[in-house]
Amino acid sequence: MADYDPRLVRLYDTDNPGGADHDFFRTLADEVDARSIVDLGCGTGVLTVALAAPERTVVGIDPSSSMLTFARARPGAERVSWRLGDSGTIGGAEADLVVMSGNTAQHIVGMAWHRALADIYRGLRPGGSLAFERRNPTAREWEHWTRDKTYSTRQTAVGDLVEWFEVTSVGETGDVAFTSHNLLTAPGEQAPETITEHATLAFRGIDEVTADLGAAGFTSVEAWGGWHREPMAATSPLMIFQARRPESGIRGTVNLRVPG
Ligand SMILES: C[S@@+](CC[C@H](N)C(=O)[O-])C[C@H]1O[C@@H](n2cnc3c(N)ncnc32)[C@H](O)[C@@H]1O
Repeated sequence: MADYDPRLVRLYDTDNPGGADHDFFRTLADEVDARSIVDLGCGTGVLTVALAAPERTVVGIDPSSSMLTFARARPGAERVSWRLGDSGTIGGAEADLVVMSGNTAQHIVGMAWHRALADIYRGLRPGGSLAFERRNPTAREWEHWTRDKTYSTRQTAVGDLVEWFEVTSVGETGDVAFTSHNLLTAPGEQAPETITEHATLAFRGIDEVTADLGAAGFTSVEAWGGWHREPMAATSPLMIFQARRPESGIRGTVNLRVPG
């Protein structure tokens, strides 16, 4: 994959401070009494380090070298084992909990998504949980990712930054490709440098995601529409999932519970 620019990675935590989402994952870890956690797509590692606790092992995995370099240098990083890679590096972790926060699940596109679910299933102990969120395609959030609606100018720790998003394609299967434009004028420089990053996010509805989880072997899925476990409505912008690997190795029908 093309890696993120390290200067933009430095801004990630300011732009994406942990809030109710991190509280949700930390509470869940306590509820399931997780002794072993894998944070897949850990990024800069804010949540990963916050999940670390005595008597608990935490592994942070990310395919981005610049994200992982930043994570490894953050305070508390020594409490986590960091791995450069994707779900293929989970192995037979026997984890109690695997989390994918910050819409990481949407970054795993096409067949890689199905491989990731199979890898996660194998990496969980029987009875272990997978938790993640995705944007709900019914809210059509990508329609707001236009130059006009996202254009901003600000001073940052790495210089003056002008930035905007632009969707470049919306595929029939829900893959949304977009470009992030960044004009960065570093301190002491006169002219901006252009940093352009491309990404594709997969949008999948609740029924598709439930079917994907079932195909990977998960039999029990719960979905909420908000970080305080609000019921999910058809147009909830967020879909938050907890899926459990069955205690027995016997495959069954996936059962979706949408608490209301
Ligand atoms: C928006 S960031 C979220 C980071 C972090 N989990 C958080 O909550 O802030 C998405 C992360 O997914 C990672 N990613 C991209 N493709 C991936 C893949 N195939 N498997 C695992 N992680 C992936 C990116 O490198 C990036 O760090």
